[in-house]
Amino acid sequence: MKFFLDTANLEELKSGARWGIIDGVTTNPSLIAKEGVALEEQIRRICEIIDGDISAEVVAVKADEMLEQGRRLARIHKNVVVKVPLTRDGIRACSILSQEGIRVNVTLCFSAGQALLAAKAGAYFVSPFVGRLDDIGANGMDLIREIVQIYRNYGFNTQVLAASLRNTTHVIEAAKAGAHVGTLPYKVVDALFDHPLTDKGLDQFMKDYARAFQTTSAAI
Ligand code: E4P
Repeated sequence: MKFFLDTANLEELKSGARWGIIDGVTTNPSLIAKEGVALEEQIRRICEIIDGDISAEVVAVKADEMLEQGRRLARIHKNVVVKVPLTRDGIRACSILSQEGIRVNVTLCFSAGQALLAAKAGAYFVSPFVGRLDDIGANGMDLIREIVQIYRNYGFNTQVLAASLRNTTHVIEAAKAGAHVGTLPYKVVDALFDHPLTDKGLDQFMKDYARAFQTTSAAI
């Protein structure tokens, strides 16, 4: 399972990059707006920090505008994946951009039927939103399972990018469901490291060794 960071914050990206486990980044217009730097410039900066797929979302509702913006975004860096919404215009833009060799992430996917449309349009990624479905009382993880099964049935190459993951249980369940990618807020990746028995065990190892040899790690 690939791990993407779901943020446009450069400090979070630099910090996450140090772990050596981040395979890419997803952004959306809301995340870009939070950073206060215009889309293309912020994507350029992100590409300098993370060497992996960087999803950059068009800020448009009409296919023609999506195509124009998508082509511009794709020219920023070879790692840019153009993100378009799962609308009629978005699917049309996805088909055309994909035929031009531009990789596309179709976002705001909330049903298996929509995911079929994205795959048929040649999407590189489809982004089903788990947390936002849970927010309205539906089961977001069921959607991940359905899409993984349907794509397997037909051998679609589109990768399932589990998005809107809000906690570590979401990540584990998405992995069990076979999602190719999980995009995680920084705090969710950070929380994956934590286990009280890891802390307790490490503390014990340090104490036992120091007691036996009356030394510090600097003197080993
Ligand atoms: C990423 O591609 C999505 O835009 C993001 O995961 C949405 O997450 P949210 O529902 O927590 O805003």
